[in-house]
Amino acid sequence: MVDAPKDPLTDPSVWNSVAVAYDAAFSARTPELLDEALRDLSLREADEVLDLATGPGTLALAIAPRVKRIVAIDFAEQMITILKERLRARSIANVEPHVMDGQALTLPDASFDVAASMFGWFLFADRMRGLAELRRVLRPGGRLLVTSWMPSDRNAALGVMLDALRAAIPDMPKSAGPLPTQIPDVVAEELRAAGFENVTTRVVAVRAPFASVDEYWNVIIPASAPVVMLRKRLGDERWNAVAERARAHLREKLGDGAISIAIEAIYARATR
Ligand SMILES: C[S@@+](CC[C@H](N)C(=O)[O-])C[C@H]1O[C@@H](n2cnc3c(N)ncnc32)[C@H](O)[C@@H]1O
Repeated sequence: MVDAPKDPLTDPSVWNSVAVAYDAAFSARTPELLDEALRDLSLREADEVLDLATGPGTLALAIAPRVKRIVAIDFAEQMITILKERLRARSIANVEPHVMDGQALTLPDASFDVAASMFGWFLFADRMRGLAELRRVLRPGGRLLVTSWMPSDRNAALGVMLDALRAAIPDMPKSAGPLPTQIPDVVAEELRAAGFENVTTRVVAVRAPFASVDEYWNVIIPASAPVVMLRKRLGDERWNAVAERARAHLREKLGDGAISIAIEAIYARATR
């Protein structure tokens, strides 16, 4: 039997290569996504929190003043390097950053009151193993939040870019439909199957503002792991031609002025 090809997004190297651009693109642009997480997490001062797949510390940095302790892990070393720099610059002492695979946590059982994975767990090669690890390290009654994106037709940040790239690359394969983690009921089912209780999901809609199509392109393209992989596959010459056509397509669709991109995400909560 031939093994299915490995999804490149399950390899830390691609996340290492986009870390600086990812941090610049997303950390401050959609604060509402963090506000919504704070609503769901109901944090308390005594909470010990695991931020799983923290990236450059998007959630960890925001909640550090509100809780006792945060362990922030990511399998991409460059993301953790950025987080460490931030922690030093802001003199934050209660966040412990570690390079670690979310599917094999080297953390003790029942050691956290809260575990969150914002736009991280859904990327795991073995999501059920990731959930088993999350459940293992949560204390009984501990709170879980995992977030993932809605499909590209409900998530213009991705959809607009895919449309533009498809306009420029006519033979680019069409997606075969939503991924499991883009369907709220499927996410809820996976959480229940992993043994979590009180599972609820909701769809959160926000808008990301950009001064122009060019700003959107310059910020999002280098930060988007799948597009960075596509660019590598095509090579510089083909990519430059594709980029020019895709940007023209975007300007035609969205105009020359400021744009506001609609983004929808799934927020799934549960308790252990
Ligand atoms: C889209 S980013 C989200 C980062 C951050 N949580 C946020 O909301 O901005 C996905 C992150 O998941 C990390 N990641 C993916 N698979 C992982 C795994 N198996 N273990 C740990 N981190 C992982 C990537 O390195 C990347 O930093």
